[in-house]
Amino acid sequence: MADAPSAYETDALIADDIDAYLDAHQNKGLLRFITCGSVDDGKSTLIGRLLYDSKMVFEDQLAALESDSKKVGTQGQEIDFALLVDGLAAEREQGITIDVAYRFFATEKRKFIVADTPGHEQYTRNMVTGASTADLAVILIDARKGVLKQTRRHTFLCQLLGIRHMVLAVNKMDLVGYDRAVFDDIVAQYRTFAHELGMEGVTAIPLSGFRGDHITATPSPNMPWYDGPSLIGHLESVELASSALQQQPFAMPVQWVNRPDLDFRGFAGLIAGGSVKPGDTVRVVPSGKTSTVARIVTADGDLDEAVAGQSVTLTMADEIDCSRGDVIAAADAPPETADQFEATLVWMDDEALKPGRGYWLKLATQTVTATVQEPKYEIDIEHEQHIAAKTLALNAIGVAEVYTDKPLVFAPYVHSKTLGGFILVDKITNRTVAAGMLNFSLRRADNVHWQPTTIGREDHAALKSQTPRLLWFTGLSGSGKSTIANEVEKLLAQMNRHTFLLDGDNVRHGLNKDLGFTEADRIENIRRIGEVAKLMTDAGLVVLTAFISPFRAERDMVRAMLPEGEFVEIFVDTPLDVAEARDVKGLYKKARAGELKNFTGIDSPYEAPETPEIRVNTVEMTPVEAAEHIIRQILPLK
Ligand code: ADX
Repeated sequence: MADAPSAYETDALIADDIDAYLDAHQNKGLLRFITCGSVDDGKSTLIGRLLYDSKMVFEDQLAALESDSKKVGTQGQEIDFALLVDGLAAEREQGITIDVAYRFFATEKRKFIVADTPGHEQYTRNMVTGASTADLAVILIDARKGVLKQTRRHTFLCQLLGIRHMVLAVNKMDLVGYDRAVFDDIVAQYRTFAHELGMEGVTAIPLSGFRGDHITATPSPNMPWYDGPSLIGHLESVELASSALQQQPFAMPVQWVNRPDLDFRGFAGLIAGGSVKPGDTVRVVPSGKTSTVARIVTADGDLDEAVAGQSVTLTMADEIDCSRGDVIAAADAPPETADQFEATLVWMDDEALKPGRGYWLKLATQTVTATVQEPKYEIDIEHEQHIAAKTLALNAIGVAEVYTDKPLVFAPYVHSKTLGGFILVDKITNRTVAAGMLNFSLRRADNVHWQPTTIGREDHAALKSQTPRLLWFTGLSGSGKSTIANEVEKLLAQMNRHTFLLDGDNVRHGLNKDLGFTEADRIENIRRIGEVAKLMTDAGLVVLTAFISPFRAERDMVRAMLPEGEFVEIFVDTPLDVAEARDVKGLYKKARAGELKNFTGIDSPYEAPETPEIRVNTVEMTPVEAAEHIIRQILPLK
């Protein structure tokens, strides 16, 4: 006989059927929910039971389950429903759930997607992932244990993520003799705490996932004292997020512009809120241009109306400028634009937040560069209090100001998860490092304008008969940056070029005298120098900078601030042992002795450029030779 399929394979089988399955249930409303609790609370058993009772488990898989249950031998003759959902091999061995799994099932009235996330403290990020799209949370409690620390944590997170419906599932009622007093006591405790959080509208249900009490139907002969809904009954009747979203003003982030030929131009996207009809006046944000919707096009033909949650292509009555990242919105209620925000962040990367560093911020279909300031505070979710923080480490939650390089079209997260929720992506590793929620804007982007000046950067450059450049020297302390930059400036002066040299030690005596050598301070050091250098190139100068600038991300940030080709990265490539042997300022000696902290190359990293425009090897070249080499590479400077 062939081996029985594992629970993992059962899962894959279910996944295979999802398409056909969702088709079959197309016209039913969809409820997304999350379950919070740990394996000990009977979470997997409960989900298994939901799948089983809604007949989403097929006969042959059931047979396999029965034989698997016997093999594991935990529950006697009964089926161990936990085996149905504990998909990952690791969790079956260790008895813990370690990732987010999505399951699909349906009843007569609705279809459901349940995000199953682990209850362990270190997995906040998994829970956030699962909760970010959920309309409802089932908070699972073991009737024998009552409200635990983790119950409070889960509830807090759910509230933070804007989940509107909470179900308190008091499980394992069979193990407390179906005692009403136990249930009432737990509910009272929980309500007090939920009330403190400002959360009302909790539905509490006494049940047994294992025995099946109050899963599909009420009353259960075991708990005649309960007259509320069953779990499935409740899941079938709560208001869906999509119907609430439909009450909002119309907004659709543009995913792409569909232009198959010259006659057709449509804007495709998923409607984030409200509804739209042909003839409606809409506004494109941020440009502010208005037009009228001509058609609502879908693969199945034109529609008379489209609502939140639908993917459509809109055509307009006028030729209107609109591209990916723009939001088409109701003309009389467009979303705001801003470039400074207060946000709540959940840090998800092993590498902690670097305040001041530029990350990609992705919100709906927009991608911009964003910097996060030093957190205002971290939220200690165990004790529901604010604590001071300089950064956010893995799984930490905090509130900080976020600045973007371009205005974002947004709505506060409490009003729109689509236009208020975002992720941060590391520009170099490409990892998603944080999930965030925009709380409010600190300043409207259109309140601070760039002041156009009559004499522009071209005029300044033309008057000096030169093309501006930023010659960015980077390398270890003692590598020879300042010496070589100095030589280059002398040669440029002989060629009648207008130059200015910004040097690390000098700038740190003035503009940046408030900064030290922590990672955050170095990032800020380079940011300011980048801004100053940019203004100087605007003034038409050839600017030379000599800073260690140890981080690739900040050098790239400065590069991105300038017109293409103007930033010239010059890597003064001196091996650490050579720089240390020179030790011109005696700093390496101090660093080795532990008298100087965060010294680059010793106990603070240096990220060498991967593809600098120019590389000089100071072991093979004298400073003058290096300078001549550089001049040859940058000529003609017009
Ligand atoms: S950067 O890392 O922020 O780019 P910057 O170039 O401005 O550094 O300053 C480096 C100079 O500061 C070094 O040449 C050295 O003279 C001095 N210095 C003092 N402390 C340190 C330190 N901990 N690490 C590196 N340089 C230091």
